[in-house]
Amino acid sequence: MVGWILKKILGSKNQRELKRLMPIVRRVNEFDEQFKSLSDGELRAKTAVWKEELAKIPELEDQWKQLDEILPEAFAVVKNAARRLKDRQDSFTVCDQPMKWDMVHFDVQLLGGIVLHRGRIAEMATGEGKTLVATLPLYLNALTGRGVHLVTVNDYLARRDAEWMGRLYDFLGLTVGCIQHDQEPDLRREQYAMDITYGTNSEFGFDYLRDNGMATTREQQVQRGYYYAIVDEVDSILIDEARTPLIISGPATISTHQYDRWKPLIEQLVRKQNMLCNRMASEAIEKFERGDVEMGGRLMFKVKLGQPRNKQLLRMMEDPDKRRAVDKAELSFYQDTRKEELFALKEELFFTIDEKSNEADLSEQGRNFLNPDDPNAFVLPDLINEFTEIDLDPSLSQEEKDKKKAERQQHCDEQAERIHNISQLLRAYCLFEKDVQYVIEENKVVIVDEFTGRKMPGRRWSDGLHQAVEAKEGVQIDRETQTLATITIQNYFRLYQKLAGMTGTAETEAAEFHDIYKLDVNVIPTNRPVARKDHNDRIYKTRREKYNAVINEIRDCHVREQPVLVGTVSVEASELLSRMLKREKIPHNVLNAKFHMQEAEIVQRAGQPGTVTISTNMAGRGTDIKLGAGVPGRGGLYVIGTERHEARRIDRQLRGRCARQGDPGSSRFYVSFEDDLMRNFGAADRMTRIMERFGLEEGQELEHRWLNKSVETAQKRVEQRNYLIRKRTLDFDDVMNMQREVVYTYRNEVIDSEEPRTLIYEVLDEAVPAKVKEYLGAERDEEPNYTGLLHWVNTTFPLGLTKEKAQFDTRTVDENTQFLIAKIKDAYERKSSHEEPTAVKSLERYIILNAIDRLWQEHLYAMDALREGVYLRGYAQKDPLIEYKTEAYDMFVELMANIKNEVLNNLFRSTSNLQAFENFLATLPQFLLREHAPTAPTANAPARGRQLQPVGAMAAVAGDGDGAGEMTLDLPIRRSMPKVGRNEPCPCGSGKKYKNCCGRVA
Ligand SMILES: Nc1ncnc2c1ncn2[C@@H]1O[C@H](COP(=O)(O)OP(=O)(O)OP(=O)(O)O)[C@@H](O)[C@H]1O
Ligand SMILES: [Mg+2]
Repeated sequence: MVGWILKKILGSKNQRELKRLMPIVRRVNEFDEQFKSLSDGELRAKTAVWKEELAKIPELEDQWKQLDEILPEAFAVVKNAARRLKDRQDSFTVCDQPMKWDMVHFDVQLLGGIVLHRGRIAEMATGEGKTLVATLPLYLNALTGRGVHLVTVNDYLARRDAEWMGRLYDFLGLTVGCIQHDQEPDLRREQYAMDITYGTNSEFGFDYLRDNGMATTREQQVQRGYYYAIVDEVDSILIDEARTPLIISGPATISTHQYDRWKPLIEQLVRKQNMLCNRMASEAIEKFERGDVEMGGRLMFKVKLGQPRNKQLLRMMEDPDKRRAVDKAELSFYQDTRKEELFALKEELFFTIDEKSNEADLSEQGRNFLNPDDPNAFVLPDLINEFTEIDLDPSLSQEEKDKKKAERQQHCDEQAERIHNISQLLRAYCLFEKDVQYVIEENKVVIVDEFTGRKMPGRRWSDGLHQAVEAKEGVQIDRETQTLATITIQNYFRLYQKLAGMTGTAETEAAEFHDIYKLDVNVIPTNRPVARKDHNDRIYKTRREKYNAVINEIRDCHVREQPVLVGTVSVEASELLSRMLKREKIPHNVLNAKFHMQEAEIVQRAGQPGTVTISTNMAGRGTDIKLGAGVPGRGGLYVIGTERHEARRIDRQLRGRCARQGDPGSSRFYVSFEDDLMRNFGAADRMTRIMERFGLEEGQELEHRWLNKSVETAQKRVEQRNYLIRKRTLDFDDVMNMQREVVYTYRNEVIDSEEPRTLIYEVLDEAVPAKVKEYLGAERDEEPNYTGLLHWVNTTFPLGLTKEKAQFDTRTVDENTQFLIAKIKDAYERKSSHEEPTAVKSLERYIILNAIDRLWQEHLYAMDALREGVYLRGYAQKDPLIEYKTEAYDMFVELMANIKNEVLNNLFRSTSNLQAFENFLATLPQFLLREHAPTAPTANAPARGRQLQPVGAMAAVAGDGDGAGEMTLDLPIRRSMPKVGRNEPCPCGSGKKYKNCCGRVA
């Protein structure tokens, strides 16, 4: 066997790398040989010894060196234990099914284990036993006691693998846990406390968000760090799943969308456009018939601009002549010299839709239709010009100019929102199809992942698209949701000190793994030579012909009792095939990645004679298909792909489902020119020519290895595009990620702090000088504002300072700062002396956490809005990412300052105990209490530490001669405003959002 491996791994870089690992594999086997003479107890004792040794090494780096050192021996212990279990036919239960242990690690599995330990991706084909491979590095790394994680694609696999491999860990004296969706925090904490924990990426990710963004005490947190994770099906998790971030959200306080308002009009508009396009398509047919190819092509191109999924258009595109005419028209219009003509062409439609870039645009006709009185309601005004004009107008005072500008800005924001709503609705109507991109379930729009066919309940399209689709389908339009916590999968996995992955297909995405996760890929040879035969693609003109051919092929297999696995790219396609098979009376199973456990059972049986299994590419992943009796003699499992997927990786994954462990097997893909991939990215022109040359008849197919190449080129193009999209998501999230890290670190510091008062004082030491500077600082061109400072001090802290007592004007800025800090601290010590010491501590933690959480959520909301907003700026030729970064930074600085101020504001307004608060009030200077008695704490005061209403004691000073009205005038406008969320109605009563009114950042 070693001979076969060696033959496979000579040569390429990958092979050289693996070759260097072979001596280690040999050493593992030598140790394994030695260990055979040990008793169970002696073998198991090694675990405890290593654990103890490693615990004595404080630094992670040094621990790693030690792990490398003991690797051969430790792997041998695992392998040896596996053999012992096998020899005694150890039986146990996995997911309530009886199971016998029957595996001992193969050499290639040891190789895979080393690669995983080194923090790389091991590409190992389906059925090579990756589940078992992971036991080696997991065991080794768990010896550090730091807790290691194995990430799977679904709850069922997490449980199955934890229970299955758990037998081995248990034998070796390690504990194993498993996270399941419905577990309560206490149970989760127990699972994380185990040496090894299995779970899905979203459970791990959501636990992280809850621990760091929501828990308020150490006891509420469930995870214990991010040391080492192995991600199973790593391509699926880090690439496919990575496109939708994990979001914990709640309903937003207010919603501003107008989708339901615009829906009826847009529906009419889409109908009008459809009629127009149908007419043009018929006209095009006429032109073609009369031999006017150029005009026909031009008309069809117009249809393509207006209704890319028009049925007649799609049918015409099957005809090579017509297809070429359209392509020619398209090419010529995109030349620079014909920009105006193209524009004119677009103006003949109501709107244009770009299928590739997913964009929708209204024409003048369309705008007129939507709002005949004011077609300009859908054009963004030229703000820069308008501002310049206002600035140049001599009849206006500065104040009037500012007011005018604010009005224009407001107007512009409203237009932008309207345009956005409408363009999302157009996309919803023209590009999003029910049962393809989404399904309706229980009156809700549920996204179907186009890659996996998996439904993703609870997730929503961003940027209002989801509401637009809800409006289109006439289901309840959910309120816009507000993000409470969010992280992308990428950034979650970057938290780990060491990350590794395994999958059957990583090679094609190696560059992305390297760039984003710093993960290198090693392709591990199979245990036995692969006997799979991959046939050339069969290419048809139309979908219909393709599906007919597929059905015929399935029937043949069924008759000769060869099992078939039919892969589809969408739920819709699966259902279509199923209907066709029913008509043919061919029994079959359909898998849609909905019920993981049943699916695993069905997939397990997919290798029995004569079975037909239809499956979206995600379904039943992670369960291998064993061949039934007699099947190897009939050619093994036959895999049929009914469409080439956008990513080559997914196709390889499907092919890999057959011919595992040296079994016989074969695969073939069926493709048609109507497939999305071919329409959008195919080398259509070249294909058309080839088709012509062969003079294709109805139902006839093409088959040649050159054609496979063309398809592959199209796939590479899409892969590249999707990579850029993911990269972009990540670029945006990186900004958030840095902010999240700062906030979460601070939060944890608060939670962990034994002396939270030091943190409170840190806030004081930073915020008070800033405030004093703001009022008295030398950078101000105005006079020092003593009254303003006094007002701030007295409304924030119960110091009862008067002008006479404060004597600000007799000291320097620094001296005033010191004076105030000392006074505040003194008052604070006095206040807390009345309270119970432990209660004070939790109160102090609470004050800071509360400030962080409230403002951070507001910040997230504002960031969401910013992110939507910057895309609109794309119209203004600005790079949204740069705009986003700059503004996000400013907003973050403001956030941190606001958090500090909020802490100060609440310092004296919170108490752990009402009696203590009253005692403290009794010690305050009498005049503070003269006019307004403190209001009682409200009933809905938070559980730990009560927060009082803004207390009269603090407000009382306003009546104290220093005239609040007068002081307000001295304050910069924004600071005199009450605290309102950016998206709440403005308190001035204008009816506009705060951010668009008084809260506008100049
Ligand atoms: N060393 C071994 N000896 C015997 N059988 C093994 C060995 N390793 C794995 N197997 C068997 O191979 C089958 C496939 O294992 P597993 O599900 O771990 O494969 P996988 O590589 O994860 O495949 P997939 O890509 O489908 O997830 C299992 O039934 C397992 O029992
Ligand atoms: Mg697996």
